[in-house]
Amino acid sequence: MAGFLDEIEPLKQAALADLKAAPDLAAIEQAKGNWIGTHAKFTALMKQLGTLSKEERPAAGKAINAAKVELEAALAERRSELELAASLPREPTDFTLPGRRRSLGKLHPLTQVTEDIVRSFRKIGFVVADGPEIEDEYYCFDALNTPADHPARDTQDTFYLANKPDDNSPSPGGEGRCPSPTGVGEGARRADEGSQRENKLCGEGGAAAPGEGRGAATQFCGEGERKPFLLRTHTSSVQIRVMKSQPPPVRIIVPGRVYRRDNADATHNPTFQQIEGLYVDKNVTVGDLKGTVEFVFKELLGEETKIRFRPHYFSYTEPSFEIDFSNALVKKLGKDWLEIAGCGMVHPAVFENVGYDPEIWTGWAFGFGIERIAMIRYGINDIRLFYENDVRFLKQF
Ligand code: DAH
Repeated sequence: MAGFLDEIEPLKQAALADLKAAPDLAAIEQAKGNWIGTHAKFTALMKQLGTLSKEERPAAGKAINAAKVELEAALAERRSELELAASLPREPTDFTLPGRRRSLGKLHPLTQVTEDIVRSFRKIGFVVADGPEIEDEYYCFDALNTPADHPARDTQDTFYLANKPDDNSPSPGGEGRCPSPTGVGEGARRADEGSQRENKLCGEGGAAAPGEGRGAATQFCGEGERKPFLLRTHTSSVQIRVMKSQPPPVRIIVPGRVYRRDNADATHNPTFQQIEGLYVDKNVTVGDLKGTVEFVFKELLGEETKIRFRPHYFSYTEPSFEIDFSNALVKKLGKDWLEIAGCGMVHPAVFENVGYDPEIWTGWAFGFGIERIAMIRYGINDIRLFYENDVRFLKQF
């Protein structure tokens, strides 16, 4: 017994020395294995307990356990020392140096204005809808009651596609929609679902399988008539997509990019942004339209902003109006009124095209350009600045 107890102390001392001297984490694991692992020297000693007599065993067991506790504590301590050392920087570091600041980007001024407009409309229950920028004439013109000889359809007026957008993507006017760089929004998705109904409207040609009969940038819709693809000239096309995809009532706004074959100058750019609004319900009046427009423009351009409606013509609304507004910013430009938007009561023919009963449903629609609002708001005198991506310009907003 005395011999057994005498063995413990020197073995423990040797183990402690070994653990404390371990130079790195690998070495400490090695030392652990040597001394207190399953086949280690200290473990072997514990196994000898069984050979001792009953009287000797308690004292020997106690001594060996105490030693083991000490070894484990030494192991844990050395391990955490080594872990800490491993996590410290190898090179000397000056922790008092100032940190490196990451410069934050900003939203483009047009995005900021769009978000403000959307926020105002959300307050009064409108949701955002989306649609493809590559459209066909059906959504952009036909369904909006815009006759084939209307000047808006002139090939000079927008960009027509020489090739179909994508063999694998269904056509916008037929079976589905084309990819939209702005992503698939709610309206577009619902428009997909609603395209079944439209195929019926289009007649046999419209139900052609994807890629079929559209070698050129056209698709069949109606009596063998071909509908060329184009870059949408306005967001009004999304009115049709949304109405075809859901029953009334409808309360949407559609911010999005549109295209026209305009030469760029201070007030024109071949691409710009619009916001479309559409409200369909029973007993909707021009009063509702005017009240809504007034609310949003006051939020956007200041409480003292006045608006006025002037009679106008759009083929998809009847009656139609142009909206002018007036406030201090307009006065600054030396004018009393500035034209800002087009609007009107949805034309019964449009309701018929989407399958809404015009005897039951009424509604209004409007559309306006976002650049115009941003230019007035920030005092910008050239629309091209929005598209040049010069950070010196963009940083100011
Ligand atoms: N689409 C028209 C444009 O691009 C704007 C517009 C006018 C939209 C009247 C409408 C509307 O919804 O009712 O100039």
